[in-house]
Amino acid sequence: MDQRSDRGTVSSMASRKLRHIDACLHGPVSYETVTTGFERYRLPYNALTQTSLGSVDLGTTFLGARLRAPVLVGAMTGGAELSRTINRNLAEAAQKLGIGMMLGSQRIMLDDDVATASFDVRELAPDILLIGNIGLAQVSGTLVPKLAAALGRIGADALAVHANPLQEAMQDNGDTDFSGSLERLHRLAAEFPYPVLLKEVGHGIGAAAAERLRGVPIAAVDVAGAGGTSWARVEQLVRYGEVRFPAIAEWGVPTAQALTEVRATLPGMPLVASGGIRTGMDAAKALMMGADVVALARPLLAPAIESPAAALDVLHGFVEELRICLHGCGVTDVDALRSLPLNAQTDKSTRKYE
Ligand SMILES: Cc1cc2nc3c(=O)[nH]c(=O)nc-3n(C[C@H](O)[C@H](O)[C@H](O)COP(=O)(O)O)c2cc1C
Repeated sequence: MDQRSDRGTVSSMASRKLRHIDACLHGPVSYETVTTGFERYRLPYNALTQTSLGSVDLGTTFLGARLRAPVLVGAMTGGAELSRTINRNLAEAAQKLGIGMMLGSQRIMLDDDVATASFDVRELAPDILLIGNIGLAQVSGTLVPKLAAALGRIGADALAVHANPLQEAMQDNGDTDFSGSLERLHRLAAEFPYPVLLKEVGHGIGAAAAERLRGVPIAAVDVAGAGGTSWARVEQLVRYGEVRFPAIAEWGVPTAQALTEVRATLPGMPLVASGGIRTGMDAAKALMMGADVVALARPLLAPAIESPAAALDVLHGFVEELRICLHGCGVTDVDALRSLPLNAQTDKSTRKYE
């Protein structure tokens, strides 16, 4: 590709990012008929808790990094000027809270050094676990050295690879050839100088995908399940201005189910629960179902555009709700929470008191 066509690709990528952001801010991008499934479970409330709220410790370790709470900012964006604001505001909030952060796809910075600036958050967040990002369809042997250099340039600690066949199939000119991608993922995970995490983008990694991951030397899986933002819906809105294939927009493995299936198939695999995680209580349930940490993306978009304080406010509220959940369950740390049973609600327990 010559430099002019390179630039054209980069600017069309940046403008697509902006259309995604616009759809996520203003469009009907949530699943309409599918839920995460967390609402079917009830935390075991304990009125005789012996804990003091202030001494609940949410600290945990993920990918070798110490986090003050088991929470990551979900992967969102990069490339456009607005993306720089979003990433920097989120990074500042993450640093203050001692949580981790995933960046959006770095594909754009592989072709354009200028785009690097939008991923430049290390100076604002020197201590956080920072995770870079690339699409599985873009992973190739020739890309590896460029990708490692890109991670080095922004001071990332790990790489998330997103597997998104449904999103790409809905995208105008999407990358729709995933043949050989498992083999390329295997090679990347084995050779890459950073830990590699595999994620979806909201349609879920469930039992079928987890089976294929047996023996692949990845460091973690983010199930990114259905029930929150549907990227098959986002792409249709961006491409057609409407949802033309509603069944496809509603397709995926709901987050709670994805979590249970991946945990059962890959018992020792570090797991991120994401996709429709909206409250500290969702996070508590996800941790009890086997997640090591949780991540949330779209709820952070509008506050991240507003200011670092607005992003901090939402994330702080989320973390404090999780803290109250541990207190109300009668436990003082995340390991103790994980050891409690989480029961599905019966019809009787969900009925309103009359
Ligand atoms: C504006 C926006 C941009 C996103 N861009 C990326 C991306 O570049 N790479 C990626 O892996 N996921 C991306 N995602 C997907 C999220 O990381 C997440 O998997 C998905 O939105 C489901 O989580 P949610 O329901 O909390 O939004 C993006 C999400 C949003 C809202």
